[in-house]
Amino acid sequence: MRILNACLLGGALMAGAFVGPAIAEDEITYTKDIAPLLRENCEECHRVGGVAPLALSSYRQAKGWAAMVREVVESRRMPPWHADPHVGTFRNDRRLSDEDIQTLVTWMETGYKRGNPEEALPPFDMPEGWRIKDPDVVLQMPEEVEIAATGVVPYMNIEIPTGFTEDRWIEAMDVQAGNAKVVHHILVYVRDPNHPGDDMGDFLKIGRGFLIGFAPGTVAVDLPKGMAYKIPAGSTLIFQMHYTPTGKPETDQSKIALRFADEAPEHELVTATTVNFEFEIPPHAESHRVEATSPFPKNAILYSMTPHMHYRGKSYEFIAHFPDGTTRKLLHVPNFDFNWQTTYILQEPVFIPAGTRMETIAHFDNSANNPYNPDPSKPIHWGDQTWEEMMIGWMNLSWFDGDADDFAETKEEMLRALEERDANQLARAE
Ligand code: HEC
Repeated sequence: MRILNACLLGGALMAGAFVGPAIAEDEITYTKDIAPLLRENCEECHRVGGVAPLALSSYRQAKGWAAMVREVVESRRMPPWHADPHVGTFRNDRRLSDEDIQTLVTWMETGYKRGNPEEALPPFDMPEGWRIKDPDVVLQMPEEVEIAATGVVPYMNIEIPTGFTEDRWIEAMDVQAGNAKVVHHILVYVRDPNHPGDDMGDFLKIGRGFLIGFAPGTVAVDLPKGMAYKIPAGSTLIFQMHYTPTGKPETDQSKIALRFADEAPEHELVTATTVNFEFEIPPHAESHRVEATSPFPKNAILYSMTPHMHYRGKSYEFIAHFPDGTTRKLLHVPNFDFNWQTTYILQEPVFIPAGTRMETIAHFDNSANNPYNPDPSKPIHWGDQTWEEMMIGWMNLSWFDGDADDFAETKEEMLRALEERDANQLARAE
C-alpha cells in the first residue's frame, strides 16, 4: 500500500517526502491542518515546560507520538474534560470535535504528510511560561521552600506581601509552580488588612478571599472588560501549598503574575462556596452520597463552578433550586478525576435570584475499585490531606443589583465584552 502511494506521489516521496510540492490542496498536512489543531487543543499543556509529560510542538514530535495520540483522542481521554456533555455548555470545553479527531486519524493514515514548511506556525509564544499577556507585576514566594525527600508534607501557608499602596483591580492572572515536580496544587488567597482576623479555616469555610488555584488543568484567568477581582491596598497573598515529595530533597519558589484593570469594574468577582464538613464515608462504600446546600442571600450572576474533592471523589453535581419552584442542573461531572481540578466556565452567565438554594451532590468511592484509593478499610472524614476528603463547590459570581429583566441586558453586554476579549487575545497571539 505504501509503495502504491509512493508511486502515486511520484517525486515527492523520493525527495524525502518532507518537501510537498506534489501535495494536493485538500490533503491533510502537518503544517496546514495538524499543527494548528495541536496548537489550539494540546500545546497549552504539551510543550516544553508545560504540565504534560510530552511535547507536541513539532512535526517530529507529532509523528513520533502519533499512535499514542490516536489512542487517547479516540477514547476521548485527551484533551482532559470530565463534564457530562448533556448538561450545560462551557466556554473552556476542551473536547475535540468528531471532525478534528477524523482529521488527525486521516493524517496518520495517509502517511503523515508534512506540507509546506514555509507555512509553519511560529513557535508557541509564552514568555516565561505565563499564560497571560503583559503582566503588570510578578510576585514570588519570598524564599525557597525546602521539601523533604519523603514523608507527608502538611499544607504550608506562605505569605507574600503585595506592597500595594492602593486598591488594585485584577483583570488577568496566572500562577506558576517554581518546581513542577513537587507542587501538587496551589490555592491563592488574599488576606485583606481590613479583616486581619481571617485565618485559613475561615477562608476555606466561606471561600472569602479566594483568588486563583493552580493544579494540572487549571487555566489562567483573563477577564473581559467590566469584570475584575479586587486586591485591597496593603493585602498579603497567601499561597496555600500542597507539596508531594519526589524521593529526593527539592526546593520550590512559586509565583503569580497579575495584570491590572485601569478602573473599578462594573462587576466585582467574588468566590462563594457550598461546603459539607460533617460527613463520614463508610469503609468500602462504592458510592457514598454527600450533599451541601447554600442559599443565595442576594441576586447574583454566576460565571463558573469548581468541584473540589480528593482521591475518593467520584462524581459531583450543581443544581439550582430557584425561588419560583423551578430547578436547573448547572453541572454534572460523572467521572470526577482528582488529578483534574477543573473550573467549568459557563458559556453564558446565569442569573441567580435571591432565595435560590444551590444544591451540590457529591459521591465518593471508598472501595478497592477506585485505583486512587489508598485504603478502603477506613472511614473517611473532612481533612486537608489528600487521603482525607473535602466536599466543596466553588462558585465564581458577582452580586447584582438588578432583576431578571436588567440581567437580560447585562448579559448581552457581558457576551459582547467576552467576544471582544477573545478577539483581542487572537490579535495579540498573532
Ligand atoms: C490541560 C492540559 C492538557 C491538554 C489540553 C492536553 N493534554 Fe494530553 N496530557 C496532559 C497530562 C497532564 C498528561 C499526563 C497525565 C495523564 O495521562 O493524565 C497527558 C497525557 C497525554 C498523552 C500520554 C498518554 C498516556 O497514556 O500517558 C498523550 C498521547 C496526550 N496527552 C495527548 C494529547 C493530545 C493529542 C491533546 C490535544 C488534542 C492533549 N493531550 C491535550 C495534559 C493535557
